[in-house]
This record gives sequence, structure tokens and C-alpha cells, in this order.
Amino acid sequence: MKHLLVTGGAGFIGSNFVRCIFGKYPQYQVVVLDKLTYAGNLENLKDVATNPRYTFVHGDICDAALVDKVMQEYGIDAIVNFAAETHVDRSLLEPASFLMTDVYGTYVLLEAARRFEIERFLQVSTDEVYGHIEQGSVKEDAPLSPRSPYSASKAGADMMVQAYYISHDVPTFITRGSNTFGPYHHPEKLIPLCITNALDDLPLPIYGDGRQVRDWLYVEDHCFGIDVVLHQGKVGEVYNLGGGNERYNLEVVQAILKLLSKPDALIRHVADRPGHDRRYSLDSTKLISLGWQRTQSFEKALAQTVQWYRNNEAWWRKIKGGEFSQYYQKQYGQRLANPGSGQIQ
Ligand code: NAD
Ligand code: DAU
Repeated sequence: MKHLLVTGGAGFIGSNFVRCIFGKYPQYQVVVLDKLTYAGNLENLKDVATNPRYTFVHGDICDAALVDKVMQEYGIDAIVNFAAETHVDRSLLEPASFLMTDVYGTYVLLEAARRFEIERFLQVSTDEVYGHIEQGSVKEDAPLSPRSPYSASKAGADMMVQAYYISHDVPTFITRGSNTFGPYHHPEKLIPLCITNALDDLPLPIYGDGRQVRDWLYVEDHCFGIDVVLHQGKVGEVYNLGGGNERYNLEVVQAILKLLSKPDALIRHVADRPGHDRRYSLDSTKLISLGWQRTQSFEKALAQTVQWYRNNEAWWRKIKGGEFSQYYQKQYGQRLANPGSGQIQ
């Protein structure tokens, strides 16, 4: 493998992954194909922009002609697909783009992988495809039980990946990562939303009782896990990639406030997310047996992340000032005006 196509590489995890690949594999060429939706941001890749081994292509993974052109022009021999609509709350408001990108777009990439006979196709998936887990932790063979339009789209993509492996021998791999956090995380998501709101002394909206559990994974460890599967995984297999840091949302938000020396009084319990999954929990033994391990404790990684947002105010202020301010009003306006009231309209 020498020519890697990283789709969705201008987003949060994708941009961190590009840095990870350049740091580790001096012989690799990386082509990023990204539509630059509201979540894509070339500033996330500013530090690699002048690297001669890096090329950026602006475009949509649903555009089969463009994907073919990229495959041919750059002699792509592996695809890592990060491109997706990723925010559960937005999938409740406007699900169409989730179906298009997450399902149809993955199909377009798989077709290209089949026709160009590439060496590896890695689909970046999520623990949300298993649905909420009341007790214990799930292994890779657990049934898929998605409960939001986002997770249903991601599960659809996983099924399509499996179908191309079985029907067409495309050398596929799937990673199912847990809730990831770290630098360049879009401020629509819980951790960066709370850090940036708290820095401005704004209320922190907590859905329902805040006792939902997420398993937090530092972004560098997520990228390392994808790297391990890409290079050492068994073709056709799925690998869970969990943080091993299960926390109540409320605990996480309180930890952020403590790191920023801000009062708990900023917390606002607001109307819950419809269909809110209560808990996710992955058994990552299979990936650990390939040599992957987490390198950061949750507490240390959270402190580093808070510091990154302090140091990179211009990055997040620009995002929060744009399209995001209308989204924020739609998503939180009524909720914050009537804390504890019913579902959003
Ligand atoms: P993100 O929203 O930050 O980035 C998504 C990127 O995809 C953006 O750069 C966007 O412009 C691009 N994109 C969207 N539609 C596209 C299209 N049609 N064509 C080309 N590019 C397109 O997402 P993220 O948090 O970095 O997540 C990346 C992947 O990891 C997703 O597939 C997501 O499902 C998965 N994942 C995320 C997490 C998490 O906690 N963030 C956890 C597990 C799995
Ligand atoms: O589990 C992996 C998934 O993690 C990824 O597949 C998704 O792409 C990613 O967005 C993330 O999904 P979540 O819905 O878990 O992340 P989010 O940051 O939106 O929410 C985390 C938890 O915090 C969840 O229980 C909902 C809650 N929450 C979120 C927001 C934005 C709040 O209480 N208030 C909020 O304002």
C-alpha cells in the first residue's frame, strides 16, 4: 500500500488520521476527498497542506465519476472511508443527507474498490450500530440494532461493506469506534460544545437526567486502532474500538467545568434527545489481541483537549459564528428557554 484515499479527511477524526499516517509511514501518498460540508474544514489540515505527499480533492463520495477519476489519477490502492454525516441530533431533523452519504456514498466507494481491485477498503463505523446496551459489553458478532436515523445509515453501510466482501471479494475491514474526543472536534458535539460554552459562561445543555453512558476514546487512540486494522487486520472482519472509559454525561461535563474553574450552575437539564440511547459498551478484545492499546487516560486526554480549545479559540469561534448559530437556535433555543419541557418541535 502506498496510495491512500482518505474520504472525509477534512473532518475531526479523518484529519487526525492523516497526521497519524504522515507521522508513521514516510512512503505513503495521501489523497483526501472531502465535500467540505458544514463539518469539513480545511483548517483541520493546515499543517499538512504543503506536504508533497498530500493532495486535496474537493468533492462528494456520491459522485461516481469523480471517485473513478481520483482512483485512476492517483493509483489508489487503499481507501479509508471517514466521510459521513455524523451528528445524531441533525439526523433527527434532516435525515436525507445521512442516507445519501452514509449509505449510497459508501456503496459508490465499494463499487470503485471492486472495479479498481484495490488492496484494502476500511469502513470507519460506530458502536451506535449495536443500539443501546443495558448490561455488559458487546462483541463484533452482536446483532445490529440501530435506533436513530444516523445509526441506521451507518448500519446500512456496514451491511453493504459485508455484502461486497462476500459477493465480490472486496478486501474489506470495518472498525466500530466509540465516542471520540480531542482536537478539531466540531463544537456541535457534547465535549467541545460544553468546553466552548463554558469558556463564554453560556449554559451547558444536558439532555434529560444526564445519566446516559458513553465510552470515551481519545482521537489519537482511535486513529491508532484504525491504523492497526488497516495494516494487520484480517480481511472481511469487524473490529470494535472502544475507549474503555465509560462515564455518565453529567460526570464528563462536571469534569470539564472543574478543569475550567467554572461553576456547576452553568449546567441546564433540557428536553431529552428523542430515542436517546442510554448506554454503549464495546468489548475490544479482538483488536487488543492485534496489538492495539489505549495510550491515554481519559482524565489526561480531557485536560489536553480543554487546553487545545483554550489555545485554538479562533478555530472554534469561526465555526460557532457561521451556520452553527442558526442550528444552535433551532436545536437549543426552545429547550433552553423551557428547561425540562417536552421534545423539540
Ligand atoms: P465529522 O462530521 O467531523 O467529519 C465528516 C467529514 O466527512 C467532513 O469533513 C465532511 O465534509 C465529510 N463529508 C460529509 N459528507 C461527505 C460526502 N458526501 N462526500 C465527501 N465528504 C463528505 O465526523 P467525524 O466525527 O470525524 O467522524 C468520521 C467517521 O467516524 C464517520 O464515519 C463517523 O460515523 C465515524 N465515527 C465517529 C465517532 C465520533 O465519536 N466522532 C465515533 C465512531 C465512529
Ligand atoms: O458512539 C459513537 C458516536 O459518538 C459517533 O458515531 C457519532 O458520530 C458521534 O457524534 C457520537 O454520537 P453521540 O450522539 O453519542 O455524541 P454527542 O456528542 O452528540 O452526544 C454525547 C452524549 O451527550 C449523548 O448521550 C447525548 C448527550 N448530549 C449531547 C449534546 C450535543 C447532551 O446531553 N447535550 C448536548 O447538547
